[in-house]
Amino acid sequence: MEIAIDGPASAGKSTIAKLIAKQLKFIYCDTGAMYRTVTLLAKKYQIDYGNVSGILKLMDKHTIKFNNTDHGQEVLLDDENVSEEIRSEEITNNVSQVSAIKEVREKLVEMQRQLANDSNIVMDGRDIGTTVLPDAQVKIFLIASVAIRAKRRYDENITRGIKTPLKKLEDEIAARDYKDSHRKVSPLRKASDAVEVDTSDMTIEQVVSKVLEIVAENK
Ligand code: DC
Repeated sequence: MEIAIDGPASAGKSTIAKLIAKQLKFIYCDTGAMYRTVTLLAKKYQIDYGNVSGILKLMDKHTIKFNNTDHGQEVLLDDENVSEEIRSEEITNNVSQVSAIKEVREKLVEMQRQLANDSNIVMDGRDIGTTVLPDAQVKIFLIASVAIRAKRRYDENITRGIKTPLKKLEDEIAARDYKDSHRKVSPLRKASDAVEVDTSDMTIEQVVSKVLEIVAENK
């Protein structure tokens, strides 16, 4: 079974997808982490984020792997665990540029489909329901207001010891929404058969049970 969870930045996709996968004993795949890892690859080897052939060459030379562990998904770049490093501000603010490259998307989409072929999966991203897994049995489109998403990111940063002005987070989220939904290749878009869930006024538990209800209806 394939469950696709899409939506804008910080709408709660990965939190929800992880919990759903755990509950159903499915594999979890965070596709954003793949685009982040390619962005990290460019940073590490000092290739410009807009240098398409340079980035593709790096992708051919290096390996990106995922490990599903008890404490979630680990991302390995050439066998080094980069799960924390791909969440840095530098990567977050440049990943939209790298993820807009058509050839990068083609390579990663192939990996994503392969993963889905092999097991029952919950996959989250921007284009899972529209492009990666158009035949997924369940498609969820998670949304929340920019203000709520910025506040959630603010709280998350505080727990990691980082204090970022709320306004800065709101501006960054709005900028990423714009870039992700206006790019030429596979822009962020709700699939026509996806169920939209607005999480602005919902707790994590409420969203999880709502999604599980939708899964049960589509089994
Ligand atoms: O979900 P996230 O914030 O980790 O995603 C990082 C970036 O990757 C996001 O700005 C858009 C891009 N992305 C994408 O283009 N397609 C996906 N399936 C997942 C993420």
